[in-house]
Amino acid sequence: MRADDVQNEITKVLVTEEQIQRRLDEIAAQVDADYAGKDLLLVGVLKGAVMVMADFSRALKSRAPVDWMAVSSYGAGTKSSGVVQIRKDLDTDLHDKHVLIVEDIIDSGLTLSWLLENFASRGAASIEVFALLRKPDAAKVEVNCRYVGFDIPNDFVVGYGLDYAEGYRNLRDVAVLAPHVYS
Ligand code: IMP
Ligand code: MG
Repeated sequence: MRADDVQNEITKVLVTEEQIQRRLDEIAAQVDADYAGKDLLLVGVLKGAVMVMADFSRALKSRAPVDWMAVSSYGAGTKSSGVVQIRKDLDTDLHDKHVLIVEDIIDSGLTLSWLLENFASRGAASIEVFALLRKPDAAKVEVNCRYVGFDIPNDFVVGYGLDYAEGYRNLRDVAVLAPHVYS
């Protein structure tokens, strides 16, 4: 669905599908160049990163395997709890792999900083982060993020994989959720 289909439930479209696709092409070209000749592994964080992984991985010109991790720090609310739980671990041994974590959004940064520490102990050759969205004003911990799609304001957003109570992931655009939906 597009933002028009849920216009009463959102206050603003922040990034359109077309803008996302253009940005993904730019970042994919950078990643292709940065990882030329290296054993790159893309690691997606479920479920929010499903859309960005699908489009970003296909924008790459290099062959890159994809693995998935499921963690949870949010539940059904709109505030990060800081408590990270592994719900599904990787299938891949990270030893000597150049890992690029693909994330939907960096909000407080708590989830990613936890993941980075967790991955660091698994013997990867390198670990970098690509986040489609980042809320600089929400950071509670600094995360070293090599590739960022868009910096956005500190509002709760949905779409392009991002959910509220599991809804809106199939919205093609990224939009600010109207407060009446969650209050
Ligand atoms: P953190 O606060 O950086 O730990 O964010 C953890 C996770 O919460 C992200 O990977 C998203 O899945 C989710 N999240 C953070 N901000 C939003 C938002 O504005 N909308 C929907 N999900 C969000
Ligand atoms: Mg989420």
